Amino acid sequence: MDLFEYQARDLFESYGVPVLQGIVADTPEEAAAAAAKIGGVVVVKAQVKAGGRGKAGGVKVVKTPEEAATAAEAILKLEIKGLPVNRVMVAQGADIKQEFYFSILLDRANRSYLSLCSVEGGMEIEELAVERPEALAKVEVDPIAGIDLAKATEIAIAGGFPADLVEKVAPVLVTLYEVYKGEDATLVEVNPLVLTGAGDIVALDGKVSLDENAGFRHPNHEALEDAAAADPLEAKAKANDLNYVKLDGEVGIIGNGAGLVMSTLDVVAYAGERHGGVKPANFLDIGGGASAAVMAAGLDVILGDPQVKSVFVNVFGGITACDAVANGIVGALETLGDSATKPLVVRLDGNKVEEGRAILAAANHPLVTLATSMDDGADKAAELASK
Ligand SMILES: Nc1ncnc2c1ncn2[C@@H]1O[C@H](COP(=O)(O)OP(=O)(O)O)[C@@H](O)[C@H]1O
Ligand SMILES: [Mg+2]
Repeated sequence: MDLFEYQARDLFESYGVPVLQGIVADTPEEAAAAAAKIGGVVVVKAQVKAGGRGKAGGVKVVKTPEEAATAAEAILKLEIKGLPVNRVMVAQGADIKQEFYFSILLDRANRSYLSLCSVEGGMEIEELAVERPEALAKVEVDPIAGIDLAKATEIAIAGGFPADLVEKVAPVLVTLYEVYKGEDATLVEVNPLVLTGAGDIVALDGKVSLDENAGFRHPNHEALEDAAAADPLEAKAKANDLNYVKLDGEVGIIGNGAGLVMSTLDVVAYAGERHGGVKPANFLDIGGGASAAVMAAGLDVILGDPQVKSVFVNVFGGITACDAVANGIVGALETLGDSATKPLVVRLDGNKVEEGRAILAAANHPLVTLATSMDDGADKAAELASK
């Protein structure tokens, strides 16, 4: 999960990373009030989860609350890299003497952490990496050892900092690592980290990505989710612990096991070519325990997608045998009652397949068609969706 800049700022502050005052505002009036509260020169900054806001006109330096309101009004109308700006942060203006770059991230390929550091910050890191690769230090960080003052010093020297600045910047890098470690982040990036006219080091812009798999250790992370941006169907699936990804097609897909669901998407897309180009509407893996409750929750999410015209349930019985899955489907249709309105094609195979098919045949539900194979099921579901 990526955080907004203001959320990263708050997190930094709670760990003792030097940041400037910042207040979020949803309207020009709120922005003016925030500017008045902070006083002096402030910067109005678009809060979107994308870099390059400065270049896109999403960062404006202003001198009065009135100017802050005008800037906020303009910024709140922007779309930056396809993302609408719903909120701004009014930040205290910094007297910038120099801009630096620092990040720490998960290096999956090397099963390690990697820190990137440069005394030449400000510009986008991708640009720096291309134009002045020699100015960007890449220093591996041992996840067990982390970044202590000695390691931070090594990183800052590698990044080209002169001795007097190394001393100032190294403790801040240590604290940024504490944020990374303490929050189970996969990325903490500060661009720019600045030296002010008064000689202080301050984090002016922060980008933080949190590892959702570690969410159970951080009950406070849930509140950081951007509910406004979440797809409502994905949110509903998440609330039910379902692995669901919304796609653009018409054939709803339910399967057990990520590999089977992925190949089901392929066969449905392939079959769809014969039926007017219909496509899969989603990825949904109901996992091992395909109980009636899980099946009902899955069907409920899929049937809630207005684009869905038919549903293909493709299950390979393993530890959860086909009879349990069949009972799950029958139970789910009972639970959903009149809200189940779209045809269902069911393909069962594997453990207790005969029993499973017999249960579905006996239930004889008007919406359910049994398929003999995966290809047959994909074809039937695609045909039904094309009607
Ligand atoms: N609080 C601030 N005071 C003064 N200048 C700022 C402040 N915040 C950002 N800037 C300037 O604006 C530039 C872009 O802002 P930044 O927050 O890095 O957004 P982005 O990386 O999305 O363009 C910074 O490099 C810095 O020069
Ligand atoms: Mg930046």
